[in-house]
Amino acid sequence: MITIHTVEELRRECEQARMSGRTVGLVPTMGFFHAGHRSLMQAARAATDLVVVTLFVNPTQFGPNEDLAAYPRDLDRDSDAARDENVDVLFVPTVEEMYPEGAPLTTVHVDRLTTGLCGASRPVHFDGVTTVVAKLFSMVGRCSAYFGRKDFQQLAVIQQMTRDLNLPVDVVGCPLVREPDGVAMSSRNAYLEPEEREAARVLSESLRAVADAVVGGERDTATVEGIVRERVGREPRVALEYAEVRDARTLVPRTELDGTVVLALAAAVGRARLLDNVVLTIRGSHVDVDLGVRTGGRGTPAVP
Ligand code: PAJ
Repeated sequence: MITIHTVEELRRECEQARMSGRTVGLVPTMGFFHAGHRSLMQAARAATDLVVVTLFVNPTQFGPNEDLAAYPRDLDRDSDAARDENVDVLFVPTVEEMYPEGAPLTTVHVDRLTTGLCGASRPVHFDGVTTVVAKLFSMVGRCSAYFGRKDFQQLAVIQQMTRDLNLPVDVVGCPLVREPDGVAMSSRNAYLEPEEREAARVLSESLRAVADAVVGGERDTATVEGIVRERVGREPRVALEYAEVRDARTLVPRTELDGTVVLALAAAVGRARLLDNVVLTIRGSHVDVDLGVRTGGRGTPAVP
């Protein structure tokens, strides 16, 4: 694995690979790797020849009162993890390298998909994400790019951007990876005190209860959203921000459950803001439940 810091080196590595007939797999991250990040590296490793991981805590996607300064960082540990996953190139730019002229005058804004869910409480967030991801796509060039379904809205927004702008990138969505007890893996879990970490289990448990209700025949959106609110409401350490059923592709609100829908939620637990979701594909009485995968323990491969 080589670690590089400049856009020029990144372009050169990717261009050279493609010139020699090799495909490029891109995994954009903000670091502090866990098994969720590693599963994306594994997916890229299995399907592409040159695996590029980018590690950049992108300031433009944090609001003024958010956790940019506190965001967890550990480059040595991340380098070891990326090496373990047979990553070829680790790109670690400085803020100056990514934004040499300061905040960019050109930004990418995806309409509609960014207004609700996380966009409601984080108004600048998705413009920061799409702008930095568009920059990374431009630096890397033709590639497959791997994103987790943990950040379901982010994935939908990036897919929309890629289609709208005809970017030469195949965006690949990958399963949500959970801790052995069901809690969705997140770099922000590092903020949790032990009793908060315990309380956070209610989020995935409430999604499991929703899945069970829908498998049992429930088809009313307000009822299943109510299941989450009621369950999470019983846990004083967890403050639910939203729990909403949306069309899985367009993110348009849905009143009835049919086709492929996502129930996405966000909640504050201590200093952490956590996301989780379940994807349900409903055809008549048949329901396919996608709650992602659980790991067997820290750093081990994801298993269904
Ligand atoms: P970050 O939060 O570091 O996440 C990097 C990638 O890992 C994203 O695609 C995210 O969805 C995925 N990921 C995180 N936790 C996961 C989990 N438990 N299971 C599966 N995948 C998981 O998302 C970002 O960084 C940034 O917004 C970024 C896209 C890099 C732009 O700055």
